Order: sequence, then structure tokens, then C-alpha cells
Amino acid sequence: MNKPIYVTQPYLPPLEEFTPYLEKIWANKVLTNGGPFHQQLEQALCEYLGVKHVALFSNGTLGLITALQSLRITGEVITTPYSFVATAHSLLWHGNKPVFVDIDPNTLNIDPSKIEAAITPQTTAIMPVHCYGNPCDVVSIQKIADNYNLRVIYDAAHAFGVKDEGGSILRHGDLSVLSFHATKVFNTFEGGAIICPDEKTKQRIDHLKNFGFVNETTVVAPGINAKMSEINAAFGLLQLKHIDHVMQRRRAIDTIYRNELEAVPGIKCLPQAGQKVANYSYFPILVNENYPISRDDLYQKLKDVGINSRRYFYPLISNFSMYRGISSAEPKNLPVANTAANQVICLPIYPNLTDIEATRIAKEIVKGAN
Ligand SMILES: Cc1ncc(COP(=O)(O)O)c(C=O)c1O
Repeated sequence: MNKPIYVTQPYLPPLEEFTPYLEKIWANKVLTNGGPFHQQLEQALCEYLGVKHVALFSNGTLGLITALQSLRITGEVITTPYSFVATAHSLLWHGNKPVFVDIDPNTLNIDPSKIEAAITPQTTAIMPVHCYGNPCDVVSIQKIADNYNLRVIYDAAHAFGVKDEGGSILRHGDLSVLSFHATKVFNTFEGGAIICPDEKTKQRIDHLKNFGFVNETTVVAPGINAKMSEINAAFGLLQLKHIDHVMQRRRAIDTIYRNELEAVPGIKCLPQAGQKVANYSYFPILVNENYPISRDDLYQKLKDVGINSRRYFYPLISNFSMYRGISSAEPKNLPVANTAANQVICLPIYPNLTDIEATRIAKEIVKGAN
């Protein structure tokens, strides 16, 4: 029996490389509150990502909630049901009403042609997701936002390092929010960041993530505690040294899957959405009626031979109990998203997955088709 394969496995550099960072923290005894590693990581990420301002967070969810607070978003926010629950949860936590709009079958991102019909006098913002790191149709979304005076906050949890022709995908909209959770392309155990367009916005966000403190005695906003600690920031700096290797391995696995699976009847590998630089953060396949067994049977069959895939995103956010009472959550409003949620399987993809293992996974899927 082969050893079990998991859908993902965090990248961890050699432990001894982390020790010098810990020694520095132990020596200077600064553990948090914007210490030296925090500042260094913000700077290093600006350079690596090609963006102007980065505000680090303890996780992506608090980043999303703080982004909403920083722009004082009220009322209804248009979003996608095809995402991780944190997207819509952040809206509920901030007191906004999520309004779900269906997705584009080719990218599985929010379909801009359906946004206008969902706008009401209460709508103040759009929260799209660059799902699986595939860029949204940022131009169409911005056009609608400009026409209706709406803010755009991108949930860019999957989009670390992704670039379009003009540079980082994270420059679009008013703000973009990253996640550095253990399962992400770039992880700091837990962590996240908001990409800010200017110094003033970053300053406001920095105040908000530290209880609203500006100095020892002045509090300017009802802030929260969402600061990244020094240990997470130090780990991020080390991870950045290994990011080229991580991306290269992910790309190699993506290529193996595409070569092996592209011609399998009933299996669709999600195409890229025109990005110039991809991050290969996930490998979703859609299992349709031309495949001899159902998506769930394939998922189980893989599990039986020690291959753990994930039905991601299933169930759809709009079908969870806290959302399904909202009128826009009705399945008849979201046919494409409901179909995708019932067809999708994300295959294992992570730097330590070997070419042999990736080929074996693909062959199991080919076998199921015969
Ligand atoms: C699309 C999306 N949004 C938000 C989040 C939340 O990020 P975090 O786990 O860092 O809070 C995640 C992942 O966890 C995600 O995949």
C-alpha cells in the first residue's frame, strides 16, 4: 500500500534555518506590535509582490473584516457564493448583507454580466474572489463599480504572486486581502495582509488592526486586534527565500495533471483565466456526466487508494443554513455555482508531492474512466 497522499501539505523550510530568527526574537524580546520582523516582511512583500503598501494581519478573515471597516462599508455587498465561507462570513461579522451573484462557468469567478441586476439602493460594495488564483474580470467589475459608485474589495486569499499584463493582480479594486494560512501557496502558519493603494489608507488600516491606537493615549477608531506576531513575520521572511522552489514544484505538478487528464472524457481541467504569472495554488477538475462514475464516487475511489482530494467548494456558501434564507441564495439564482459545486474536486498539489505521485493520482482518474 502506498503512503497516504493529502490534498495539501504546508511547505516548511529546514528547521535549522528558522533558529537564527528565533534567537533574534529571544534576544530583543519584541514579540509583536509591529516589531522589526513585521516591518521587514511588509517591505519584502511589497518588493516580491510588486505592490506599494502591505499591512500584515494575523489571518485573512480579520483582514477582510478590517478592509470592510476601513472603507466604512454599509448595507448590501455583492459577492460570489463559490468561495470559502470566510468571504461571506466577513460580511456578516461586519453587519453587511451578502448578495450572491452567479459565477462564470469558464473561470468560476463572479460573472460581471450578472452584477448590475443585483444592485439595489442599499448596495455599497462588491467583494469578488480570485478563485483558485485565477483573476476575476477586473476591468468589467471596475466599470460597474465606477458607474454605481461602489467600492471593490477583492478577496485575494488564493492570489499570492499572481500577475496580469500590467503587474500584480492585487493592485485592482480599492483593497485586496491575502491569506497566509498553512494551506496557502505562501504561509506564515496563520496570517494575512491587506494590499493598500496609498500610505494614508495603510495608516488607517494599521490603526484599525491595533485597537485604533495612534499613540500611547490616542484611540481614533473602534479597532480590533489583528496584528501579525513577530514569530509569524519571521517565518514569512524565511518562506520568501524558498518561494521560487515552491512555485516551480507547483507548476510542474500542474503540468503533469494537465498532460494526463486533458483528454479524459468527462473531466475538465479548469483553464487559466489569462494571467501572465500563475501561482498554481489549486488543481480543480470538474467531473461531468460523461465520466462513468459520479464526482462523489470518484472522490471515494481515490480515498480508498489513499489519495485524499477535496470537494472545494462544496457545499456552496449560499446553501449553508446561515445564508440560504437570503433571496439571492436560492439555487435557481445560482445555477452555474450549484453545478460547479457538485462537479468539483481539487487534486493534491503541494511542493513535496513528487512527479511520481502526481502521475499516479492522474492514472487513477484515467483508470476510473475506462
Ligand atoms: C477564499 C478565501 N477567503 C478567505 C479565507 C480566510 O483566510 P484565513 O484562513 O487566513 O482567515 C480563505 C482561506 O482560508 C479563503 O480560501
